[in-house]
Amino acid sequence: MLESIKEDYIISNKKSWDAAAPRFFGRSALPVYGPFMPTENELNLFGDLSNKRVLEIGCGSGHSLKYMASHGASELWGIDLSDTQIDTARNLLSDCQAKLNLFQGAMEKNPGIPTEHFDIVYSIYALGWTVDLGKTLHNINSYLKPGGTFIFSWEHPLHSRMKQSGDQLVIHKSYHEEGLQQCEPWDSPAIMTQLKLSTYINELIQAGFQIEKVVEDVMICEDNKSGDPAVWYTPMKASLIPPAFIIKCTKK
Ligand SMILES: C[S@@+](CC[C@H](N)C(=O)[O-])C[C@H]1O[C@@H](n2cnc3c(N)ncnc32)[C@H](O)[C@@H]1O
Repeated sequence: MLESIKEDYIISNKKSWDAAAPRFFGRSALPVYGPFMPTENELNLFGDLSNKRVLEIGCGSGHSLKYMASHGASELWGIDLSDTQIDTARNLLSDCQAKLNLFQGAMEKNPGIPTEHFDIVYSIYALGWTVDLGKTLHNINSYLKPGGTFIFSWEHPLHSRMKQSGDQLVIHKSYHEEGLQQCEPWDSPAIMTQLKLSTYINELIQAGFQIEKVVEDVMICEDNKSGDPAVWYTPMKASLIPPAFIIKCTKK
């Protein structure tokens, strides 16, 4: 029963992402990890990418894979739920020298990605769209070579639980509450799993990862200090709680 509900959510999320994709082209792509976060230029979490086989989960329009290509990765692989995103990524990456393999599909299933093949699997602002974190992390772990790296960024679990009211933040939902729910800023059906930070960490450990680093740092530029509270990410909110987080881990 739960499995068929999850399947239905994946189908409706695909429709919503196919329609919304043009709004997101290149918006959450390396070297950027997320809103008000330090970038890869500051963090250097990936290290030397030359000749690395890389796979992106929720590769979107392919801009992060393009970043990987420009830093010498030898194989570019990506999976994304949306046909629109995959078509755009294929166009964007058509002139890359590296071997390219893109799959339209849900991250909760393996559409034919080789196991124990990748030096690096990563996901930039997409992993939280999974409707089954355990299955997704199990797949990711299987794709990596032993000792391989998994890096992902996602919205911080505190962010949607706190609302800006004037110059204050108010608790809008319990931090303890977890489960599938409608993504608030979307007006079309968009279901994602609301989780706690500890759940991400514990599920990673359960899937066979060793945590190397957790980043919750915030960078607010001087010229970006004002903010409309109607906007989902504001500098005021970011100055009080992290809008996003990054975890780097290794396959044991
Ligand atoms: C914010 S975008 C990520 C953008 C990407 N980092 C880029 O560089 O363009 C989130 C992506 O997750 C994809 N997505 C949502 N649910 C998914 C699922 N269950 N499996 C695979 N991809 C999914 C969406 O289609 C969307 O392209």
